[in-house]
Amino acid sequence: MQSLDLTGIDLIKEAPIQEPQRQYYYIAKAKQYVDRLAETLGRTPTFCVTTFGCQMNARDSEKLVGILEQIGYKEETNEENADFVIFNTCTVRENANMRVYGRLGQLSRVKKKNPHMMIGLCGCMMQEAHVVEKLKKSYRYVDLIFGTHNIYKFAELLATRYESGSMVIDIWKDTDKIVEDLPSERKFSFKSGVNIMFGCNNFCSYCIVPYVRGRERSRQPKDIIREIENLVADGVVEVMLLGQNVNSYGKTLDEPMTFAQLLQEIEKIEGLKRIRFMTSHPKDLSDELIEVMKCSKKICKHLHLPVQSGSTRILEKMNRRYTKEQYLKLVEKIKEAVPDISLTTDIIVGFPGETEEDFLETMDVVRKVQYDSAFTFIYSKRSGTPAAVMENQIPEAVIKDRFDRLLKEVQDISSKVCSVHTGTTQEVLVEALNDHDTSLVTGRLSNNILVHFKGDSELIGKLVQVHLDECRGFYYIGHRLS
Ligand code: 5AD
Ligand code: SF4
Repeated sequence: MQSLDLTGIDLIKEAPIQEPQRQYYYIAKAKQYVDRLAETLGRTPTFCVTTFGCQMNARDSEKLVGILEQIGYKEETNEENADFVIFNTCTVRENANMRVYGRLGQLSRVKKKNPHMMIGLCGCMMQEAHVVEKLKKSYRYVDLIFGTHNIYKFAELLATRYESGSMVIDIWKDTDKIVEDLPSERKFSFKSGVNIMFGCNNFCSYCIVPYVRGRERSRQPKDIIREIENLVADGVVEVMLLGQNVNSYGKTLDEPMTFAQLLQEIEKIEGLKRIRFMTSHPKDLSDELIEVMKCSKKICKHLHLPVQSGSTRILEKMNRRYTKEQYLKLVEKIKEAVPDISLTTDIIVGFPGETEEDFLETMDVVRKVQYDSAFTFIYSKRSGTPAAVMENQIPEAVIKDRFDRLLKEVQDISSKVCSVHTGTTQEVLVEALNDHDTSLVTGRLSNNILVHFKGDSELIGKLVQVHLDECRGFYYIGHRLS
């Protein structure tokens, strides 16, 4: 990441009102405090950002890291040794919340030993009023709490925390604001997530996301294109376009634009080799998009298309706005247009009122679609959502039994589906040295499957041709041809 030029900023003056200039001002201000802290400690202060949840959160964390590095912190991978620990939280299922409370408890001991340590909490879980109440009451040692809508204000909130010396809490209910041009640090040099929209208007009855991420708003296409052009100039060859429901991109823009049109614009960017996107809602996936995917040279042959349930009755209660038949028809159309596409999905087991027959409909969809992989979730009751107060919540033992049967089916199918590419040669983007054997590298096929083959770190970030020799369940062993 390029360093921001902070030299022209006069901290004697009031902070500018305009963004992002206001945040640049606070970055300069926070930097003064961090410089002082460095003097006290006799070393560079360190941070550790831990991300829970989805790719959206992972991208947000990169923005936090970008700002932390600008103000003078350096990264420390061991949470317990860091001077500033941040949890970027998720609240999609209850167990995500429990993990955060558990980790916070552990940190209180560490904080007692390091008086300079700060703890920050942000992300989706902070958008829930009962969470913030609990933190205020029982976790007084937390220094900074903010939400999903004001993450761009991180530097300002941090400067306020340094100035006040006490807990700072700033949570917004919603926003229509998108602030561009803030620093961010990428985890990978060769690939990057790019937000194209924020929020969600779908209100699936089980889902808390619309309540914690607010209303849907799209970034201007020119801002997205400019960001990707800059990324490409900086060595990025693959982008993942991020949104809760990318298929409804552009509907709220002053000059509306479809997601398919945006993809075509992105395709034109020279030097960009691969385009991925996440997540697609089946109800909004257009014929236009299928056509663009069919003709594209850069869009990866992978579609994540959450089905959630195979029962039309349950889908209706989930407010998904498609039937089992419509979903299967859509899948057929996609497979016909892009025959070698890999399909993945999300499935919830144990939604209120789910009967054995409903569950068998889900199993039927799984068998018919033949997913490359499926994320299976046990229904989790999220207070404030319509499903939380529905009758007929399913007993744990019944859910567990269905979940195990589903998981087995999904795994059997995916190992079969995965192996169909054995013996072919494919283009692979090399991502890393292999964790277990450093004479190997790990890369990703266009369809998102991993392959391990002989190579060294020189190859990281490069696209190479690899022959897929053998399928081992969910990944391949191969050898490089070019
Ligand atoms: N319980 C279980 N799974 C859920 N998901 C969203 N909300 C819930 C919930 N209340 C799952 C959906 C979604 C994925 C990101 O998380 O399958 O697609
Ligand atoms: Fe979790 Fe949803 Fe927030 Fe992502 S958007 S972090 S899945 S609650």
